[in-house]
This record gives sequence, structure tokens and C-alpha cells, in this order.
Amino acid sequence: MGKKRKLQPAARPDKHTLYEASVQAVDIDLDLFARIFEERNGHPLKKLREDFCGTAQLAVEWVRQGADHESWGIDLDKPTLDWAREHRMGPLGVDSTRIHLLHANVLEVEGPKVDLACALNFSYSVFKERRVMLEYFTRVYHQLADDGIFILDSWGGPTTMQNIIDKRNVVASRDIHNNQVPGFKYHWDQSYFNFIDNHIITHIHFRLKDGTKYKKAFTYDWRLWGLPELRDILADAGFVETECWFDGWDDEAEDSDGHYARVKEYTEMDSWVGYIAAYKK
Ligand SMILES: C[S@@+](CC[C@H](N)C(=O)[O-])C[C@H]1O[C@@H](n2cnc3c(N)ncnc32)[C@H](O)[C@@H]1O
Repeated sequence: MGKKRKLQPAARPDKHTLYEASVQAVDIDLDLFARIFEERNGHPLKKLREDFCGTAQLAVEWVRQGADHESWGIDLDKPTLDWAREHRMGPLGVDSTRIHLLHANVLEVEGPKVDLACALNFSYSVFKERRVMLEYFTRVYHQLADDGIFILDSWGGPTTMQNIIDKRNVVASRDIHNNQVPGFKYHWDQSYFNFIDNHIITHIHFRLKDGTKYKKAFTYDWRLWGLPELRDILADAGFVETECWFDGWDDEAEDSDGHYARVKEYTEMDSWVGYIAAYKK
């Protein structure tokens, strides 16, 4: 009989796994992007670029969804890209050759032309000057196909300017490769806001059911950009039209109704998240 082996405690999830489970819904993003692209252009979306890709969950899921899909992910942070290669691309096997991760600054990268580029979870907010944002949007414009579309999400409402902590329970789920993710607590900590220049500092903290804390798992030092400001800069970068796509609100469930539509008016919300689609043609 061999030696008795000690039972190992269940491995604690990585902070990237908890991030994906709490703030991303890549299937919803991709359904909407494919719909917006096909409605506008009359042919399906094939080549997608995820700027500020982090773990590249969206780029990976896009390739998983179709044999003729190809994606690019761009990020400055090498350790996060290494994690993406091992945990997100690795399990895809040969299909992962249709994902191209670039360790680069989105202000410098020269990628091939794509159908659709996106910048999500407000990552572009690291650019605090209008001049730099215009430079970024202009670079994206030139790296899109003739009928290309750029989609970014926008965030606002009166409570985004308050120093508050938004706490919610994230239920147990599965990641895109069907691995189990336990339930946990997610805290969005708006720790600083300056009304003079909209400088905002936020942190994400996690807490597992066994009490393990991931304090300041992620910190963001941003400018809170107004939605009209972003649309003006997109127009200056050359996009011929921008549209806002928002979901409806289910009062009873106190949650999104999951239906996205173009909107020209959106009122009376403490905080909101919506998408801006910028069209090259
Ligand atoms: C909030 S995460 C976004 C992750 C994921 N794409 C999402 O939508 O949730 C922001 C990422 O942007 C990256 N980043 C920040 N500045 C960048 C830049 N100038 N160029 C490329 N990546 C950048 C960071 O390394 C980080 O991984």
C-alpha cells in the first residue's frame, strides 16, 4: 500500500477568473456586436479586435463560436496575456491559431484591418486627455475595414460621481471552458472622484465564501468620460455616425431586461452602462 496522501484544499480561483465571472458577459457582447454589424452591412462579422483585452475572453469566445472567425487581442500587461494564453487559448487546441495576442500599447499597435474593434469595461478611460483619446480613436478608425465598426461601452449617472462601494453576490457559474467558478462577493469601490477634471479611482475587491479576501485585486485610475464627449471625439476621428445601444430596465427584477435597442433618450437612472457603436460607413 502506498503512502497516504493529504487531501488538498480545493484550489482557490485566480483573480482573473473572478474578474471574468463578475464583470464580463462575452456571449451577450458578441451576440449584440454580430447583430449590429450584420444589420448595418448585410454580411456577417468575421474579424474582431479586442483592445485592452486582458484575459482575451471575448477574443477567444469569438473564435470558439465559428470556424471562419478570427480575432486579435491587444494588451500592455504581459503576465495577463500569459494567463490568457495558458487558460483561455490553450484549451482551444488548434483553433487557438485564429487568435492573435499582441503585447502592445493600443496607441502604437499596427494591426491588420478588422471588421469590428471594441474597447470594453471602459478601459479606454486610462486616456485622460481629449488629444490622446482622439489619437486612439483615429488609430482604430484607420485599422478598420471600409465598413468597419468600433464599439465601446460607456458608463454614467449621478452615483458614478459618489464615493460608494457597490456590493453584490456573484452566483456559482462556469467559465467559457466549462470549469466551475464558485460563488463569491464582488465589491466595486469608487474611492475617489474629482469634479474638476472627472478623475476617478476605483478598486475591485473579491471575497470567497471561505473568507479569503482579494483586496484591491484590480485598481483603475481613470477619467470618467461623458457619453456625448465620446461621441464628439469619435466624429472628429472620422466616424460618419454613432448610435447608442442600451438595454431596457425590469423594475420588478431590478435588473436589465436583456433587450438591446438603439436609443435616443434614456432618463432617470442612478447609474447606467450602454454601448456606443461608431460606424466608418
Ligand atoms: C479593465 S481591463 C479590460 C479587460 C477586458 N477586456 C474587459 O473588457 O473586461 C483593462 C486592460 O487594459 C490594459 N491596458 C491599459 N492601458 C493600455 C494600453 N495603452 N494599451 C493596451 N492595453 C492597455 C491593462 O493592462 C488591462 O489588462
